[in-house]
Amino acid sequence: MCGDAKSTLKSRGGGAGDEESDYCPPTPQKEWWWWSSTGLVKLVSITVVFMAGVVIGLSASANVSRYYYNSHTELFFPVTTYGNCERADCAPTFKSFVHPPHLAHSMSDQELFWRASLVPAAEEFPFQRVPKVAFLFMTRGPLPFAPLWDRFFRQHQDLYSIYVHTLPDYKLNVSKNSAFYGRQILSEEVSWGSITLVDAEKRLLANALLDFSNERFVLLSESCIPLFNFSTVYEYLINSTHSFVESYNIDTPQCAGRYNHRMAPHILPSQWRKGSEWFELNRKLAVQIVSDNKYYSIFQKHCRPSCYPDEHYIPTYLHLFHGSLNANRTITWVDWSRGGPHPARYGDANISKDFIQTIRSNGAQCTYNSKLTSVCYLFARKFAPSALGPLMNLTSTVLDF
Ligand SMILES: *[C@@H]1O[C@H](CO)[C@@H](O)[C@H](O)[C@H]1NC(C)=O
Ligand SMILES: *[C@@H]1O[C@H](CO)[C@@H](O)[C@H](O)[C@H]1NC(C)=O
Ligand SMILES: *[C@@H]1O[C@H](CO)[C@@H](O)[C@H](O)[C@H]1NC(C)=O
Ligand SMILES: *[C@@H]1O[C@H](CO)[C@@H](O)[C@H](O)[C@H]1NC(C)=O
Ligand SMILES: *[C@@H]1O[C@H](CO)[C@@H](O)[C@H](O)[C@H]1NC(C)=O
Ligand SMILES: *[C@@H]1O[C@H](CO)[C@@H](O)[C@H](O)[C@H]1NC(C)=O
Repeated sequence: MCGDAKSTLKSRGGGAGDEESDYCPPTPQKEWWWWSSTGLVKLVSITVVFMAGVVIGLSASANVSRYYYNSHTELFFPVTTYGNCERADCAPTFKSFVHPPHLAHSMSDQELFWRASLVPAAEEFPFQRVPKVAFLFMTRGPLPFAPLWDRFFRQHQDLYSIYVHTLPDYKLNVSKNSAFYGRQILSEEVSWGSITLVDAEKRLLANALLDFSNERFVLLSESCIPLFNFSTVYEYLINSTHSFVESYNIDTPQCAGRYNHRMAPHILPSQWRKGSEWFELNRKLAVQIVSDNKYYSIFQKHCRPSCYPDEHYIPTYLHLFHGSLNANRTITWVDWSRGGPHPARYGDANISKDFIQTIRSNGAQCTYNSKLTSVCYLFARKFAPSALGPLMNLTSTVLDF
C-alpha cells in the first residue's frame, strides 16, 4: 500500500528538441518603468520616445515593411497579457478576463498564486457558466498518449481545459488541431521527490484557476490513459460531492515513519496522511491549496528525503481542514501488486480487451456520493509508449470513444 511512487515521472529523457515552437511565447517583462520613481520615469520616457523616434525614422527612410515596424512597436509597448493591460487603446475584454485565451503571462509564482486565490464574492456569474474539467498534465517532455487523449477529447471543446507542465526548456511538438496545442504553461525545473514537485502542482492548479469555468482539476502524468469516454468522466467528476485525493495513515516506515516531530503542534502524528500525488480537486479545494503558505512552509522545511512532500502535503492539509470533502480514494488506477518501489508498467504486449475491461471494473465496489458503484477508476497508469497502438485499437470496442 505505502509504496513509493517516485518513478512515475522519471522514465523518458526527452531532451528539448529544436522543433518549431508552440511553447509559451517569451513574454516581455512588465513595463516596470510605470512604477519606478518619477525621475527615472522621465528619464526612461525620454529615452523611449527618442528611441521610438529613431525607429520610426529608420523605418520610414528605409521603407521597411509594416511587419518590421509593428514588431518594434511591440518591443517598446509590449502587448500585455490578459488583465494587466496598461495602454489606453488596449482594453481587456470581460471574456478574456474570465476565460484567458492564452496561457502566456509574466507573473512570478508568488504573483500567480495570489491572483489564482481570488474568489468572487458575488454568487452569480454574469455569464452562462458551464463547468469544465481541467486536465493538468505533469511531464518531463513528450506526451506519448496525446493521440489517445485527442480522441477522448474530440467534440467536447467547451467542457474541458488542458494545462501541461514540462521541463522549462522543453517544447511540446503537437499539431495545430491537437487538444494539447498551445497548452504548455510557464514551467520551472522540478526535482523529483522535493518540494519543487508540489510547486509544479500548484503552478498547474493556479494557471487553471484563472479560467473561472474550470470546476474540477485532475492531475495526470504522461504515462496515464483514460479508462472511460469523456461524457462518463465528465459526469462522474462534475456530479461528485467529494474530491478524490487518496488519504491514509498506516504504521509503516514509508508512511507514519516519515512524520517529523518538528511539525508539531501544527501537524500532530495522528493528523499525518499519505496518498498518491495524482489528485482530483474541486475548485474550492484547489483555491485552498494555492493559497496556503503556512503548511506548505512546514513541509518545505521538515519533509525532506526520504519524506516526499508530493505524497503527504495535500492529503495531510485536506485532512486537517477539509476532510469531509474528500473521498480519500484515488480515481487513478495503478498496479503495486508486484511489490518493490515501482508500480508495474504496461507495454504493447500487455494490452488486451480483457485487461482494460478488468481495470474498468474488477467486481470491487467503491463509494460514490454515499452510494456503491462498480466504477472506481477513471484513469490508469503506468503505460509505456508502445501501448499506444493497441490502446487506439480498443477505443471503439472497450473504451467507448
Ligand atoms: C514534430 O511532429 C511532426 C509530426 O509528428 C514531425 O513530422 C516532426 O518531425 C516533429 N518535429 C520534431 C522537431 O520532432
Ligand atoms: C460512453 O460510455 C458509456 C459507458 O462506458 C456508454 O454507455 C456511452 O454510450 C458512451 N457514450 C458515448 C457518447 O459513446
Ligand atoms: C449528473 O450531471 C448531469 C449533467 O452533467 C445531470 O444531467 C445528471 O442528472 C446528473 N446525475 C446525477 C445522478 O446527479
Ligand atoms: C475521508 O476522511 C475524512 C477524515 O479526513 C472524513 O471526515 C471523511 O468522512 C472521509 N470521507 C469519506 C467519503 O468517507
Ligand atoms: C507484460 O508482458 C510481458 C510479455 O508477455 C511480460 O513479460 C510482463 O511481465 C508483462 N507485464 C506486466 C506488468 O504484466
Ligand atoms: C489493431 O487491430 C487490427 C485488427 O484487429 C490489427 O490488425 C492490428 O495489428 C492492431 N494494431 C495494433 C497496433 O495492435
